[in-house]
Amino acid sequence: MKITTLLVSSALFLATMTTAQVPAFEAARVSKCRMPGVVAYTFDDGPYIYNDQLLAILKKKNVTATFFLVGQLIDKTLEQKGSLKKMLDHGHQLASHTFTHSNLDEMTADQMKLEISRTSDAMFNNSGVRPRYMRAPEGRCADACTKVMKELGLVISYWNVDTNDWRNVNEKTPALAVEKSMVEINKVIIQDSNPATDSFILLQHEIHKFSVENLADVVIDAILKKGYRFVSMEECIGESAYLEGSVVPTTSVAPVAPITPPTSTGQPVTPTTGTGAGNGGAGAGAGAGAGNGTGGAGAGAGAGAGAGAGAGAGAGAGSGAGAGGNNGAGIKAAAGWSLGVTAAAAALGFALF
Ligand SMILES: *[C@@H]1O[C@H](CO)[C@@H](O)[C@H](O)[C@H]1NC(C)=O
Ligand SMILES: *[C@@H]1O[C@H](CO)[C@@H](O)[C@H](O)[C@H]1NC(C)=O
Ligand SMILES: *[C@@H]1O[C@H](CO)[C@@H](O)[C@H](O)[C@H]1NC(C)=O
Repeated sequence: MKITTLLVSSALFLATMTTAQVPAFEAARVSKCRMPGVVAYTFDDGPYIYNDQLLAILKKKNVTATFFLVGQLIDKTLEQKGSLKKMLDHGHQLASHTFTHSNLDEMTADQMKLEISRTSDAMFNNSGVRPRYMRAPEGRCADACTKVMKELGLVISYWNVDTNDWRNVNEKTPALAVEKSMVEINKVIIQDSNPATDSFILLQHEIHKFSVENLADVVIDAILKKGYRFVSMEECIGESAYLEGSVVPTTSVAPVAPITPPTSTGQPVTPTTGTGAGNGGAGAGAGAGAGNGTGGAGAGAGAGAGAGAGAGAGAGAGSGAGAGGNNGAGIKAAAGWSLGVTAAAAALGFALF
């Protein structure tokens, strides 16, 4: 809770600090949307065995979501292999949650790039898209990581409200788990926010049964009732969902209007340089060059081009409070996630092979 309050208040602080004269899309880090009244509903750690169920719920509720996928799970089982196209068919957005779900802050730049390019390749091979939006595992992406992601032309996607669903998997009943997972939403969105001025990027995970089966419905109903509309990350931020070279046509949203300065999760960022080009430029230019030894061609390409456009930008900073805040939670999150992966592997063994 404290973390959230901190996030929200530093977001507000930042918003007040930097009003005019901010370049269109200066930083690669985002944690809320560019316009009020919307919620980007995001699910991490898939594709996983509850994906079909989740798609059915979202469809029933007519809600668009964004899925931050773990690269190494994409080809794990036939079911998982089939998930990406289904999500796209349902109108959802696909994004990257790295290949191995490891701590990017402990990697070299080349290792980070490999995490991105392998995921991008797996997604491209599977469904034709190369994601522009990425979320660092456990939100860990300090300065060096931020720089790399920016070079790659990616949008580092944080959140400003969290279900904390992974913490509640051991509650006695799904109802209790749901209740606990609604605590932060009830405070931050339902009680304290105003759809006329606020927007949210909401974090949930698709690897916990109760979270899909019981929580999603409750989250959606509460948020709609409060007067928000659900949007994809693309609509939330205004940067196209996929990098150049993606072959699945992306219908929605022309990235244009200047957006609210992306809020860091930590200390306010002084808008240092005016890299006018910003990310939009980077994205557009991508798809050019050749791979850079980090793996597949396409992702490597994104890298080269992104670097050109993004260089010298003054993003940085900001990882302090937010990342720090996440750490404690993060480690346990990793454990929870590993369970998920183990289960996935088990599912693989039993169900299909
Ligand atoms: C579903 O949502 C879209 C986008 O918000 C809206 O345009 C459409 O009218 C909705 N459809 C139904 C059946 O509610
Ligand atoms: C993607 O497909 C290419 C060409 O078939 C293959 O060489 C590469 O290993 C695949 N990459 C991934 C991550 O699946
Ligand atoms: C690979 O990327 C590095 C920076 O990460 C750059 O200095 C180098 O020129 C690139 N090489 C190729 C062949 O693109």
